[in-house]
Amino acid sequence: MSNAVLKSAGVDQVFLSEVIAGLSNAPKALSPKWFYDQRGSQLFEQITQQPEYYPTRTEIELLASISAELGDQLSDREALIEYGSGSSRKTRLLLRALPQLQQYLPMDVSAEFLRGAADGLSKQFPKLHVRPVVGDFNSTVKLPATVQSMTRLGFFPGSTIGNLPPSAACSFLRLRREELGRGGKLLIGVDLRKPVEVLLAAYDDSAGVTAAFNRNLLLRINRELGGDFDPDRFDHQARWNDDHGRIEMHLVSRGLQRVRIDNHCFEFADGESIHSENSHKYRLGEFKLLARVSGWEVVSQWTDPQQWFAIFLLG
Ligand code: SAH
Ligand code: TRP
Repeated sequence: MSNAVLKSAGVDQVFLSEVIAGLSNAPKALSPKWFYDQRGSQLFEQITQQPEYYPTRTEIELLASISAELGDQLSDREALIEYGSGSSRKTRLLLRALPQLQQYLPMDVSAEFLRGAADGLSKQFPKLHVRPVVGDFNSTVKLPATVQSMTRLGFFPGSTIGNLPPSAACSFLRLRREELGRGGKLLIGVDLRKPVEVLLAAYDDSAGVTAAFNRNLLLRINRELGGDFDPDRFDHQARWNDDHGRIEMHLVSRGLQRVRIDNHCFEFADGESIHSENSHKYRLGEFKLLARVSGWEVVSQWTDPQQWFAIFLLG
């Protein structure tokens, strides 16, 4: 059955079954792609403006500082395909550096937010053909025939690759290798290892925006699946997992409680958590190895002076 048919019953059955399965697991876990409804995308944009959240401004400054080089190295590209495009804020920098681009395909699961961003971009770049694609970047995108005949550049900023476990990151990179074709290139932003206190602050900002973003997952389950979570009884927590080299986001139950969703009942012990997100922090060498085993060569790499964030051009 197609998603559209399932949705016509009023409930997204894929969302429901994933939530039921995730909360039935031990430890309880949810997939981060469900963070991004309209409210989630808005909250994410606010996260990027928090003083503790260094990745966005670091990547933007880095992109700006290499834009002339990118213009030279990518002057033959005709189509740009972006994965998890969100507000497309970073894309504007790239589009100014690559004025020859004819088509832009932003892809995202957050449908309404994607349409808003695509409309804004079309107005700002009237000669560019903007074709938003609502979908999951963990599967292949069916590219329009005109785009298939063009030289393609993939763009995957924001260290969204870090939100995938390394095995899924490898599958993602292999999929893009196929989709971007012979001669295809991929520009990708990767967050790097750094002092743990900097990381913990970035994922637990003092204004509480990341906490609100994390709890929005529970509110979304209430709204769309008729759950009865009390989000105030779950604490937001960011943890550093040194074995896996990743920041983990958790929602930790305050006290013993029961939650109902659809006809299912879930019990939470005091202090039991729902693991809601991972954000892997790579070493430069680790990421290069991942790229190679996934079928790519590193054409160029850039980092900011502190080596907090890297941008790789793969080919
Ligand atoms: N590229 C932007 C946004 C990063 S946040 C930036 O760098 O600031 C991650 C984005 O990926 C969100 O817009 C989210 O909606 C989208 N996303 C998350 N999981 C996805 C998936 N599985 N498929 C497609 N888009 C996804
Ligand atoms: N790719 C971003 C990152 O890992 C996504 C992100 C930022 C995020 N803050 C978050 C995901 C908080 C979940 C919760 O930095």
